[in-house]
Amino acid sequence: MVQLHDQTFRDAHQSLLATRMRTEDMLPIAEKMDKIGFFSMEVWGGATFDVPIRYLNEDPWERLNKLKEAMPNTPMQMLERAMNIVAYWNFPDDIVMKFIEFAKKNGCDYFRIFDALNDLRNMKVPIETTKKVGAHAQGCLCYTISPVHTVDRYVEKFKELEKMGCDSLCIKDMAGMISPKRAYNIIKGCKDAGIKIPIDLHSHYTSGMTGMAYMRAIEAGADIVDTSMSPISGGTAQPATESIVAALKGTEWDTGYDLIELVEIRRYFVKIWSKYRHLHRFNALKVDPSVTVHQIPGGMLSNLIFQLEQQGIGDKYFEVLDETARVREELGYPPLVTPTSQVVGVQAVMNVKFGRYKKIPKETKDYCKGLYGTPPGEIKPEIMELVLGKDWKDQIITCRPADLLEPLYKKRRDELEDMGLIKKEEDVITYAIYPEVGLKFLKGEAKTEFTSKDLPLPVTHPFSRALIKSIFPELTDEEIEGIGGKGVGAIPTEFDVEVDGEIYDVKLTPKGYEVAKPAEKKKIEGGVAAGLQGTILKIKAKNGDKVKEGDVVVLLEAMKMENEIVSPKSGVIKDIFVKEGEEVSPDSILFAIGG
Ligand code: CO
Repeated sequence: MVQLHDQTFRDAHQSLLATRMRTEDMLPIAEKMDKIGFFSMEVWGGATFDVPIRYLNEDPWERLNKLKEAMPNTPMQMLERAMNIVAYWNFPDDIVMKFIEFAKKNGCDYFRIFDALNDLRNMKVPIETTKKVGAHAQGCLCYTISPVHTVDRYVEKFKELEKMGCDSLCIKDMAGMISPKRAYNIIKGCKDAGIKIPIDLHSHYTSGMTGMAYMRAIEAGADIVDTSMSPISGGTAQPATESIVAALKGTEWDTGYDLIELVEIRRYFVKIWSKYRHLHRFNALKVDPSVTVHQIPGGMLSNLIFQLEQQGIGDKYFEVLDETARVREELGYPPLVTPTSQVVGVQAVMNVKFGRYKKIPKETKDYCKGLYGTPPGEIKPEIMELVLGKDWKDQIITCRPADLLEPLYKKRRDELEDMGLIKKEEDVITYAIYPEVGLKFLKGEAKTEFTSKDLPLPVTHPFSRALIKSIFPELTDEEIEGIGGKGVGAIPTEFDVEVDGEIYDVKLTPKGYEVAKPAEKKKIEGGVAAGLQGTILKIKAKNGDKVKEGDVVVLLEAMKMENEIVSPKSGVIKDIFVKEGEEVSPDSILFAIGG
């Protein structure tokens, strides 16, 4: 018998509906879902912590609680990013342990734990804590293709995870590119190596091969595969639950699930799919086999295209694709998953724009120092020298990255208590993980993008209009107004766009219109330009300061990475034209330097 792990309430809507499905649209069908007998249902983690506090004014802890109450018979699972928990950077052990303890308390039974670099040292604390609180630990490895990611290496690591006390294992193919042959070989390898605990294959339908890969995995002995209910399946989401149940019916792998019940549940999700129509993206529903050639996950591709446009090199798409593959190889073949996909992608964009390794964000340096974990393959000494300088050997850490972090829980708790904002202990974690967005949410200042009652949004709503414009760019505003009746407001120019769980602020500027920045308009002697579109993070000098060539004057955040803007010569700072928090374009003059 094969079992299914249903992703409808987590990965499916994260992949196809920008993670926006609200709890009130999950609860009415929960009782029926609970009766199916799924191995487990993933309902939490990944982007489902960030998005509710940022956009839905919903408490993620409450969602977990309510879902558990509504589905007492089905194990509830979360996706846990090892030391990154549900964010994009490392947290100290005490935060990770408290998080898992509270998640279990609020109804999470199974924890799928993965690390972007498959560095088992990063997974140790979450796995041990999961076991300690009496939950099910699923040890998960990211799937990727490279000369160092051999079948043997996966099998060895899975054996290690079994030894570390995991209750089950999972191959996480976030890009949806695993081939039937590779799926078969890895699962068969694990079974032949004597691994006893169940093995799960998690994939997406992106390449179009996933149904075949699941079948071969099952033939090799896979115990569980990940699916989602058909109305929110396919494309960049999972293969459909009902289809897999039907395919296995009457075979030795029969799930035993009630197909008639599932088709009944399907009717509910057809309605939900249509209710959230303002979030439909047609490309996400198509299969895209090109992932099997360039191996760049769909979410990362959209990121790259967006970053190229933002940095004014939109015509360099193919060059950046090649450069991404080259940088990934040079950095030791990290799997392209958050946050390493960002490190590789941004470095590739920088290399194409400024020359190879001429500009290096802090995150690339951190990666090379080992602050994310040990890279899967070797980074050549010449690349290390380019990134970290001649003394690169002294900068490399050999310990587990989190060993360098101070405990944080008490500090964050005290801060939140001083603000009088602790309603329940879990709030400390919300604040510790997302100090800005989380705090805003706890203060009651988060805005609800829409509630279930507002859906479906009328065509005249800014979200619907943006969607219509993206499909029919030739339509005028009057014509769109004609579709939906009266009451159209001003055209929105700022959007939050979510790609693969990452949120970007996008500003649209009509063609032929120039954004005027005071500093750009003047020709300034000794002026130093930003070179990148981004936000001023920190200004490290003031007027009159003496600086040497190469001294860092401004820290600029671009593409979520920290970049140092240095003085091109020795001299005195004559003027600073920007302030912290200000947005700048590549031509903006940041400061002027005099002799
Ligand atoms: Co996934």
